[in-house]
Amino acid sequence: MDVDDVGAICMAHALADRGEAELLAMVQNSMPSLGIGAISVLNRYYGRDVPIGAYKGMGLSTSGPYLPYVSDLVSNWPSTLGNSSQVSRGVDVYRQVLAAQADRSVTISSIGLLTNLAELLRSTPDKHSQLNGRELVAQKVKLLAVMGGEYPSSDGLPKGCNFCGCAFGDKASSATAAAAANFVMAEMPEGVKIIFVGDSLGRAVISGGLLSACAPAGNPCRQAYLDYAGTAGKGRYSWDLLTTLASVRGAQAVGLEECSNCTGFNWVDPTNGANTWISRPSRAASSQTSKQVFLVLRDAQKAQDAIDSLLCDPPSKRKDHQANIIFS
Ligand SMILES: *[C@@H]1O[C@H](CO)[C@@H](O)[C@H](O)[C@H]1NC(C)=O
Ligand SMILES: *[C@@H]1O[C@H](CO)[C@@H](O)[C@H](O)[C@H]1NC(C)=O
Repeated sequence: MDVDDVGAICMAHALADRGEAELLAMVQNSMPSLGIGAISVLNRYYGRDVPIGAYKGMGLSTSGPYLPYVSDLVSNWPSTLGNSSQVSRGVDVYRQVLAAQADRSVTISSIGLLTNLAELLRSTPDKHSQLNGRELVAQKVKLLAVMGGEYPSSDGLPKGCNFCGCAFGDKASSATAAAAANFVMAEMPEGVKIIFVGDSLGRAVISGGLLSACAPAGNPCRQAYLDYAGTAGKGRYSWDLLTTLASVRGAQAVGLEECSNCTGFNWVDPTNGANTWISRPSRAASSQTSKQVFLVLRDAQKAQDAIDSLLCDPPSKRKDHQANIIFS
């Protein structure tokens, strides 16, 4: 529903091309079916076959609103998958992928609704793991980065879209989004470190504008930014890119910083998706000290340059000609 989601996926591939990250999975957290087609276009362009899942639960609008870049990419670029009917549920992909990883090794970058994470925390033992969702997350996840809300407080009204589902424009979707965000904040095991990126932080960094000049016309990320902005050279707010980049490189490497003197945890209002930082050492008296922090901006130019440099990388794994396939 915004082109920074596209940017985050492209940037993640560039980080993988540079050997800074391994892409384990991508799970769409909303229902519109063609989102999977767009994700598949991007993955194919970068030559990386990443497991994909999609939220298939209750309470979210299944219709768009599709932005023009979704249909443009799906209609005009090759992809491996066309829509969400061809992929498993996000929670199944999460469980399969997490179960196969080393303990405390996985980073999750949450750049949309928290629907899949809520389903993961609610999940029960299955063929992939004998652990329930909370146990599996506690064992495998070392860091969760969350784009959403405002810090230290959104002052009673939701900020951005990810905690409130506001972009859908219908009450059921908003209620689902707010309930999922509240649940994840309340139930995420406290041993998992969480970094939060708020709405205003994302708005302070504009990125992607360079793509029209630095990337070839066949680059679908470039086309998505052109479709979104309508003008060559125009960038977009960097919510999802900052979150993802900080999750891989650490806040300070990308012009951000973890808040100081901010021991506490995030609370999301389940009725409307507003959020507040609660300055208490832990959620419950008996539990361990919170490992949650929110990020603050130190150097917007450094952040923008780091993102644009990655977006401009040509894909290194892409093979235009599958010369070693044998047909017989
Ligand atoms: C999704 O893809 C399937 C099979 O590839 C196709 O039959 C179906 O019509 C598609 N649905 C939508 C909504 O595009
Ligand atoms: C830390 O926060 C507390 C309470 O908000 C305040 O009284 C104190 O001065 C702060 N310390 C520093 C070093 O900022």
